[in-house]
Amino acid sequence: MRVCVLISGRGSNMESLIRNADGYAVEAVISNKPDAAGLRVADGLGVQCMAEPSLDGIRDILDGMRPDLVCMAGFMRILPADLTERYCVMNIHPSLLPRYPGLRAVEQALNDGAAHSGCTVHFADSGVDTGKIIAQAAVRIEPRDTSDTLAARILEWEHRLYPGAVRWYAARLAAEGGEAPTIRGRDLQMVRTAEPERAASHAVEMGAAYVRRDGDSYIVSAEKPTTPPYVAVVSGDGVGLVLERVRRLAAPDGST
Ligand code: GRF
Repeated sequence: MRVCVLISGRGSNMESLIRNADGYAVEAVISNKPDAAGLRVADGLGVQCMAEPSLDGIRDILDGMRPDLVCMAGFMRILPADLTERYCVMNIHPSLLPRYPGLRAVEQALNDGAAHSGCTVHFADSGVDTGKIIAQAAVRIEPRDTSDTLAARILEWEHRLYPGAVRWYAARLAAEGGEAPTIRGRDLQMVRTAEPERAASHAVEMGAAYVRRDGDSYIVSAEKPTTPPYVAVVSGDGVGLVLERVRRLAAPDGST
């Protein structure tokens, strides 16, 4: 699957997409800011880079490339509807959407006194951080957090979540024989969280979902993981019941 990444700044998510490419290839990086630090990073990684300030110019480049997927990664412009309709476009945002869309999402969460924030990968439409949610990772807000410390912890999750979401899409695209997959059912496809309680409540919310362990976090996904162990959640399970099964999954020997 051929991916084009749009950036405006330092490009750490772009770098993570390039370094963790598996089942997809980042073929080009376009920045609307000619001095974006991310352009040098992409160049150093051997990826074709372009600086193009105008959306019309970006449209022309995309039309020449016809990528299977366009990933916005810190791209500070709203794409017009003709582009989001012509291409499959994803975005990453540093909050648990639909909460705190737009600018200064980390500060919004702190000012709101939220107990959690996190990051979201979603399909982009021409709205501000709207579009179907693909994956989320939750991060606990600590009492001493500043916007810098919280943003840094969220960013660590962004770097893991975005390549995971793109790999998921690549697998879907391959399964559909190269035709753009129709995303059916519930919006949320994947959630990553370090907290069993949140994993359990997301699993219940998603209906037919699977929870598996990945290091110190849980991944809740609508798709069945290829390898056990995982906890399958059937629609209608209560959070308490699922939590009990998630905890059992967490124990190395299977005990609670
Ligand atoms: C990230 O926090 C991303 O969620 C937001 O903009 C920031 C971009 O950072 N959309 P980077 O350029 O990927 O380092």
